[in-house]
Amino acid sequence: MLKLTDIEKVYQTKTIETVALNRVNLTVSKGEFVSIMGPSGCGKSTLLSIMGLLDEPTSGHIEIDGRPVTSYSDRELAHLRNQKIGFVFQSYHLIHDLSVIDNVELPLLYRSGVSGKERRQRAHAALDKVGLSARTNHFPNQLSGGQRQRVAIARALAGNPEIILADEPTGNLDSVMGEEIMDILLGLNRREGTTIVMVTHDEQQALKTERVVRFFDGSQVS
Ligand SMILES: Nc1ncnc2c1ncn2[C@@H]1O[C@H](COP(=O)(O)OP(=O)(O)OP(=O)(O)O)[C@@H](O)[C@H]1O
Ligand SMILES: [Mg+2]
Repeated sequence: MLKLTDIEKVYQTKTIETVALNRVNLTVSKGEFVSIMGPSGCGKSTLLSIMGLLDEPTSGHIEIDGRPVTSYSDRELAHLRNQKIGFVFQSYHLIHDLSVIDNVELPLLYRSGVSGKERRQRAHAALDKVGLSARTNHFPNQLSGGQRQRVAIARALAGNPEIILADEPTGNLDSVMGEEIMDILLGLNRREGTTIVMVTHDEQQALKTERVVRFFDGSQVS
């Protein structure tokens, strides 16, 4: 489904060059649940952004569904980003002026052929899955960290993506809440076959997934 070959990412600022990813090779098959582990700064978020087509590698190849991304038109790429991939960001990225339900609906606004009514229904269904049906009209600053994280997950779910890329979805949560989020993700993977790539610092959670990929200093170590 997703194949990365020899991916390199170099960040160049005025004073320093950082090799965030050094010749990374990674294949994720349909229906897999993979976790990515490694110390802070080793390139995990960078890798996820590249997998989610939010950032481009400095060199290397990416294939999605057996086709190099370079062969997709801009329109097709926009479609992939918007429909196929759901992103859960490390820092939530919620819009503070919008209510919970409006935040969750937002990605659907950019889809053609989804009516306002259907958007609401899908957003409600997604919030129900993460146990936030009672908070739809709250604003993000009226929610706990764990609830915000769940809104961010609901927003990714609302679009029914085939792949979810989640950057430390339990990083800011206590262990009970972390377990709940993990159960939501495991359920999606098992019941709905959603492919998931999750960055985590939590060894226990990583062990619940099918495969753990470990990074150190931009390189894959296992
Ligand atoms: N926009 C940027 N410009 C310059 N350097 C960057 C940029 N983004 C990331 N880096 C550098 O690239 C390296 C990898 O960063 P990345 O965010 O991928 O790490 P991470 O593994 O996700 O860390 P954490 O566990 O703390 O979230 C770091 O050394 C970071 O400083
Ligand atoms: Mg990160």
